[in-house]
Amino acid sequence: MPMHAAATLAAPRAPLTVTEVETPAPATDEVLVRVRAAAINPVDWVIQGTGRITYRWLRTPAVLGSDIAGEVIAVGADVTRFRVGQRVFGLATGTDRGRDPLREGAFQHSSILLERLTAPTPESLTDAEAAVFPLGLSTAACALFQPQHLGLRMPGTPASAAAPEVVVVWGGSTSVGMNAIQLARAAGYTVVSTASAKNAEAVSALGAEAVVDHGSPSAVADMVAAVGGRPVAGAVALGAGSTDACLDVLSRAGGTRLAMASTPVSLDSLAGGRHLFPAMLPVFTRIGLATVRSSLRARRLGIHAGFVWGSSLRDDEMGPRLWRETVPRMLADGSLRPAPSPLVVGDGLEAVQGALDRQRAGVSAQKVVVRL
Ligand SMILES: NC(=O)c1ccc[n+]([C@@H]2O[C@H](COP(=O)([O-])OP(=O)(O)OC[C@H]3O[C@@H](n4cnc5c(N)ncnc54)[C@H](OP(=O)(O)O)[C@@H]3O)[C@@H](O)[C@H]2O)c1
Repeated sequence: MPMHAAATLAAPRAPLTVTEVETPAPATDEVLVRVRAAAINPVDWVIQGTGRITYRWLRTPAVLGSDIAGEVIAVGADVTRFRVGQRVFGLATGTDRGRDPLREGAFQHSSILLERLTAPTPESLTDAEAAVFPLGLSTAACALFQPQHLGLRMPGTPASAAAPEVVVVWGGSTSVGMNAIQLARAAGYTVVSTASAKNAEAVSALGAEAVVDHGSPSAVADMVAAVGGRPVAGAVALGAGSTDACLDVLSRAGGTRLAMASTPVSLDSLAGGRHLFPAMLPVFTRIGLATVRSSLRARRLGIHAGFVWGSSLRDDEMGPRLWRETVPRMLADGSLRPAPSPLVVGDGLEAVQGALDRQRAGVSAQKVVVRL
């Protein structure tokens, strides 16, 4: 059995260590990729630090990481879109319930990707740039296009003749937000968004018509003014406090759909703390209470609010449509750019744990990446 090196989570809350694991053969609808760059998402340190509670199904040893760019080293029998040697990037979903976190995870030299969640890397992009896309882009697409969330038309679908509707992206300088702005613009919507002042220019360069400072006490009023009485297609809530802010905006500006991607309380202190128990009790109590409060408020306001799961597109029609059609087309016509820009913090599997710690310490409009 061939083997390769992986940054492995040997046990819940253990630091990642480099070990040898078996190299899998791709199933009929999969490709095997030599990973050249892997990006870090908050969920990686959330799983490492709190997986016992938040990802109870996850068995260890496991390989974490969702964002892969590299080149194809083997293809499954039914795969016709890719050939060995081709540069690709895609979303690894190995930590999801029912998937195998050793076959499919970014922080290793060889990983499986599902063909339907993989796209060719254009020559104009480095692997580090391509690696910033997968989870941020997929989560943004789930929030905007899945019928259970905003249910917007996808890019490439003809817009109606009516005035373009406004989409609110609260947290436009997050990785998910920067992708959401580009996808919503490409689908023909007007986007109003938020960022701190230093990132406002970068967010408007992606297509946001107005960028409100989410740190300002007048942020909600400023956002309502930015909407300017136009019809609102919905809001995407990213970042601490974003759900309440979006409910405020929707109740005042109109709009009845809200897609929430963030927990109401960040898990960073819990993930980095020495003990999960009993520190988790007040944190999860606050999360539970805030979630119930927001749900009740949304219901009272007549707003449909749902929590987004960024890899749920694996099992619906939108995932393959996004990855096989929309992403290659938008990259080719220049309407999709890698954002936030990659912050390469190291090379090699030994650098992955430090990269997770760097992401948890906080980033501002940057995507932490390790080259492998
Ligand atoms: N549900 C899912 O499937 C899923 C998937 C991916 C991510 N997420 C969640 O979505 C959120 C964004 O993830 P990400 O990877 O895109 O984050 P990220 O890139 O690490 O987010 C960093 C950015 O957050 C912004 N930010 C900080 N506080 C904020 C606030 N109160 N309101 C709005 N923005 C704020 C900062 O903007 P400034 O520096 O401009 O202030 C910073 O640029 C996280 O909560 C993450 O856990 C969920």
